[in-house]
Amino acid sequence: MKKILLKILRKISLQIVLIVIFVALNVYFLTFPSKILGKIIDLLNNITQNKSIIYNYIFILIVTTLISLILRVTWKFLVACTTRILEKDLKDELFNHFLKIKLTSIQNIKNGEIMSYFVKDISEIRGLMYKLLSAGTRILFVFIIATYTMKNINTNLTISALCPIIITTYIIIILKKYLENSFKKSQKYFTNLSEYVQESTDAIRTTKAYSGETNQLKKFIKKNKILKMSNISVDLYSTLISTAVNICFGFCYGITIIYGSNLVLDNFITIGDFVAFIGYIDLFYGPVSWLPSIISKFKRAQISYYRLENVFNLEEENLELDIDENTEKIIGGISVKNLSFNYPGNIDRVLDNISIEIKEGETLGIIGTIGSGKTTLMNLILRLYPIPNGKIFIGNKDLNEIELSNLRKNISYITQDNFLFSTTIKDNITLFKDEFSDSEIIESTEKSIFSSEINNMKNGIYTIIGERGIDLSGGQKQRVVISRAFLNRSNIIIFDDTFSALDNKTEKSLLKNIKELVKEKTCIIISNRISDVKDADKIVVFDNGKIIEEGTHESLLKNNGLYSKFYLEQASMKEELL
Ligand SMILES: Nc1ncnc2c1ncn2[C@@H]1O[C@H](COP(=O)(O)OP(=O)(O)O)[C@@H](O)[C@H]1O
Ligand SMILES: [Mg+2]
Repeated sequence: MKKILLKILRKISLQIVLIVIFVALNVYFLTFPSKILGKIIDLLNNITQNKSIIYNYIFILIVTTLISLILRVTWKFLVACTTRILEKDLKDELFNHFLKIKLTSIQNIKNGEIMSYFVKDISEIRGLMYKLLSAGTRILFVFIIATYTMKNINTNLTISALCPIIITTYIIIILKKYLENSFKKSQKYFTNLSEYVQESTDAIRTTKAYSGETNQLKKFIKKNKILKMSNISVDLYSTLISTAVNICFGFCYGITIIYGSNLVLDNFITIGDFVAFIGYIDLFYGPVSWLPSIISKFKRAQISYYRLENVFNLEEENLELDIDENTEKIIGGISVKNLSFNYPGNIDRVLDNISIEIKEGETLGIIGTIGSGKTTLMNLILRLYPIPNGKIFIGNKDLNEIELSNLRKNISYITQDNFLFSTTIKDNITLFKDEFSDSEIIESTEKSIFSSEINNMKNGIYTIIGERGIDLSGGQKQRVVISRAFLNRSNIIIFDDTFSALDNKTEKSLLKNIKELVKEKTCIIISNRISDVKDADKIVVFDNGKIIEEGTHESLLKNNGLYSKFYLEQASMKEELL
């Protein structure tokens, strides 16, 4: 997180420097009205002689006020843009990180939590940056420039006039702690009360049945009273802080008027200096009253920073998402040797001593009971979870020796969960890659027996799916996903339970096209239907994480095991349907 923030800060460093310069200039020009007013007052004692000088000062006043206004608009806009860049870059970095986090780590993060990192935490960081660049820099320069200008009039007067501000700053920091504590308490009591209301409405029948209304009401009144008290203490501390600021400035003005007028009487300073001095004190009013909000922004951003840091610390997979060139073609069959597996943090064995040999260009059919570990095995072939060395090989290469993104690029994995993005059919097939022409995409939909339905849609492959587009049926969704297999040129294709929502006729035509597609490729077809796997070169039967049968369709039928049981069940179902 620190590295990422530094990287972004380096990127926006020029803007930050510009903002600091503009704010400094702005504060410098803000001292002009008081300065000029003082000068004019001093010139008034001889108005006829000094008329033209006074007019000059008025002209300077107008020009500097205009410059000050322009500077203010410029730095405000720059602060907004710069913090938006920070926000955008942080979101980019976070999303990029999410895509790379190991599945084992990301599984533990809830969906709502992910959104709050993007929406709340990043905007807290931006909020602090905004406050620091706008209010923080102004506080700094008001203290430097205004103090310096005041000191030029009279050092002792400056020290005495600013003393209350320093004391008040200290008081505010102390009061702020109490305010924060009571704010936290009030939030806790509010949640407590809301939960109680929720619970009571859920349990209203029981309450009525047992005549518990009076008790419920008593409890509510008690909780509500506690909430009221904590809210009052929040209001009290807020009022105390704003009162402290006002009293502080009362003292500042009081000291300046008493001490300053004496200095005027003793001819140490002029009346003009005295008036200008009071004007400079005004410049401190804003910065001092901003202090509480800067402190609380800082606290909130600190919490968000640590939350984000925890996410950024989650380990990433070792993959380079951008290397499109130099993709090495992976060739050869797949062999799995005595592979056992349980999901990290889970003691149940999902795969138990699995060994499979698929020669290059062959098709393997996998059939088995639900939850027997078929998808898990595919997840391991794609290295979505870590596996030990010497367990899975492609060609003669250990899977762990193949560069991760290259491995995944070389395998077309058609998944069983046909999640689609709410965008066009085209983007869902290509997964946003632009290396395919429209005619190639249309051809892939022809092969997946989807083209006639797409042709009936007004915008063809540009039809939008999902929220504001059309809704597809389960079978149509599966065919969008299957089209990807026909588009990709990978040598290894895996279909994981992707035909379940298709009708018999579509499935038959599709299987014919798939057979053609995988003629020279290594292919795995996982299905619960005998008809999908029966033509495979080899079929394995999974049950409870183990391979319990292996062979061809014919040899397995002769075995009279689970496979032939499936076959008989499915054949009788078909007869029933006919
Ligand atoms: N991410 C996971 N974490 C823990 N257990 C899982 C995970 N995914 C699947 N499982 C468990 O692993 C077993 C095998 O699941 P899976 O490989 O999806 O079966 P199949 O594809 O054969 O239906 C099931 O008991 C399932 O509950
Ligand atoms: Mg599965």
